[in-house]
Amino acid sequence: MPVFPRLVALSTVLFSSVFLTACGGESYTSAELSAMYPDISATSTKPEDAEILCPFQRLLKRSGILDDAIEKGSFEIRNRTLTAAAEVFGCTSVACGSAISYASTAQGNWRTIELDRLHEAGLLSHNCGLQFDFGGITVSDTRRAATLNRLAELAVDGRLVYEDLMTVKQETCDQEGVDMTVFGETEVKLIYAYLGGPERDYIEYSDVDKFFHATMPDYKATGYVNVSLIGQVQ
Ligand code: HEM
Repeated sequence: MPVFPRLVALSTVLFSSVFLTACGGESYTSAELSAMYPDISATSTKPEDAEILCPFQRLLKRSGILDDAIEKGSFEIRNRTLTAAAEVFGCTSVACGSAISYASTAQGNWRTIELDRLHEAGLLSHNCGLQFDFGGITVSDTRRAATLNRLAELAVDGRLVYEDLMTVKQETCDQEGVDMTVFGETEVKLIYAYLGGPERDYIEYSDVDKFFHATMPDYKATGYVNVSLIGQVQ
């Protein structure tokens, strides 16, 4: 893409995120994000990037919001651009920005992160995946389906509570023979927080299914995912 349109596209992402933050508490709704980024709507057939182990970042990549900032065939992106995109999708620059900067440094990069190397992101990485196998570096359809099947068994009227997610996570760690890490647990909290658990006291099983397939869930948190919201998950 020529330089000028690329700059315009990047400044739109940066402007949207600064504007949203300045406007305070509410982030875009699922419906708004699906309309803005049809590639992640429920009817989209765009493939996901199985190399990206984090479902949130896979969603961002599939949405197209990063397209102007990532070279074709590459997964490397500037921390600042990814942080701004994460904010558009409802995660504050403090919460997601710190994770991005940490992961970037742990990968040995300077101000960029490689989305296909999240298994090499220091303490954020672990071997107890809900969608990837022990030591796996891409999403495993088998593991993801097993996780979703187990969650479907635990769901009541299609709804899940935080303990259900933790039960499946713990069963997976036990099966792999690894201890659950603090960050592994935090990721479970992030799913529950992002899908609106703290405000509704449940999340929809179908939304976890969508989220794990890099598709916009039907419901997401009204406010931003930040340290305080994650702290409310229990
Ligand atoms: C934008 C900042 C973020 C960074 C840098 C980040 C990074 C990571 C990393 C390094 C992993 C572990 C990969 C591995 O162990 O090999 C991971 C997994 C995960 N992330 Fe993120 N993440 C971010 C934001 C989020 C958000 C906002 C959510 C939820 C809304 C989320 C949900 C998850 C989940 C559920 C997993 C576990 C995947 C699995 O077990 O299969 N992440 N992330």
